[in-house]
Amino acid sequence: MGTPGAGKGTQAKLLADRVGVCHISTGDMLRDAIRRGTRLGLEAQRYMEQGLLVPDDVVIGIVEERLRAPDCKHGFILDGFPRTLAQARALDELLARRGEPLTAVMLIAVPRDEAIRRLAGRRVCDKCGAMSHVAFDPPARADRCDRCGGGLAQREDDREDTIRHRMDVYARETAPVLEHYRGAGLLHEIEGTGSREDVSRRVAASVG
Ligand code: AP5
Repeated sequence: MGTPGAGKGTQAKLLADRVGVCHISTGDMLRDAIRRGTRLGLEAQRYMEQGLLVPDDVVIGIVEERLRAPDCKHGFILDGFPRTLAQARALDELLARRGEPLTAVMLIAVPRDEAIRRLAGRRVCDKCGAMSHVAFDPPARADRCDRCGGGLAQREDDREDTIRHRMDVYARETAPVLEHYRGAGLLHEIEGTGSREDVSRRVAASVG
């Protein structure tokens, strides 16, 4: 959990690699559906471009299907889900049916200004999806991915007005979910400022 730009995707990937479980990002799955031009993608695009949440039933459906895949058998890290109380309750029910309750919920906390700086400078490879940042993690060539040489682009929803809108949606819709998990004793709050490695060490120290 965390505001847009808190570093959820960055830390989820590092942790998933370290502990050998799958990384499930609802944002990545929706963007992939948009790239492929599927019906789901066309529906999601209308919301995502405006910085709004995609309807609960759509997102719950894709997470439910993804969790059935064999690579989720030994555990998973959810990134960007749940984002509403309805999604959190649906996840509780789904995991109760599987007899697999959540181990931990991590909240990465960064000040709003820092998150906006991170998002405004984020660049994503159109080929392999690797992330970089124009100031904090600049690629060797401004328009090329260091990993695969693909083209780098700004995400549609990383324009400043849309970023601010996403932040407001987070405060309104997602912040109440934190109380749901705090009440269940599952919430680990992690200071998200500093380098990626610093944050990664805090994540490891917090959840083992
Ligand atoms: P999603 O893709 O989940 O976006 P988000 O939550 O807005 O989060 P971001 O991906 O923007 O940020 P992040 O916290 O992952 O940070 P990152 O690691 O990339 O969702 C997009 C949209 O999809 C939503 O608006 C909604 O429409 C829809 N959606 C998705 N899930 C949904 C759901 N469950 N329900 C309904 N709708 C849903 O890092 C950001 C930048 O900072 C990068 O450039 C990175 O390199 C840099 N960075 C990271 N860590 C550091 C550090 N420590 N120091 C310096 N720079 C850093």
